[in-house]
Amino acid sequence: MQITVNGTKHDVDAEPDMPLLWALRDLLNIKGPKFGCGVGACGACTVLIDGEPVRSCSHPVSAVEGSVTTIEGLAPGGLHAVQHAWIDHNVPQCGYCQSGQIMAAVALLNTNSNPSEADIDDAMTNLCRCGTYPKIKAAILAAAKHVKA
Ligand code: FES
Ligand code: FES
Repeated sequence: MQITVNGTKHDVDAEPDMPLLWALRDLLNIKGPKFGCGVGACGACTVLIDGEPVRSCSHPVSAVEGSVTTIEGLAPGGLHAVQHAWIDHNVPQCGYCQSGQIMAAVALLNTNSNPSEADIDDAMTNLCRCGTYPKIKAAILAAAKHVKA
């Protein structure tokens, strides 16, 4: 079957029920999305499909209809406003959850460019075992100013 990832069409030789995360990491060697829980709970594997956040560990590759974006394709040749804010706020600790966090944050700002703290709490359900939540929130609020501008 064929899937489009970061603007490029790929033929993937996969069983239909293979999770998208497996196809990305193991077949296409795209390592930004991480394996955490494997059951759709932690968000480490979050990618965008046509701008919507999707937990790729729990999404069969055969069910992909739109265009997949991973953190590698978020801002080709540069950094997205959310990535700049992450650097400015020194968000990551171990870093493991962070690509999923950034993809979830981008998805939030795609639909709500002026989120309140409550909006961020509602949208950002990704888990971080290092507890970077306050810095994530500050970075999203800062990134929103640039997205709006
Ligand atoms: S690895 Fe997909 S949600 Fe945890
Ligand atoms: S930065 Fe370590 S799990 Fe989030």
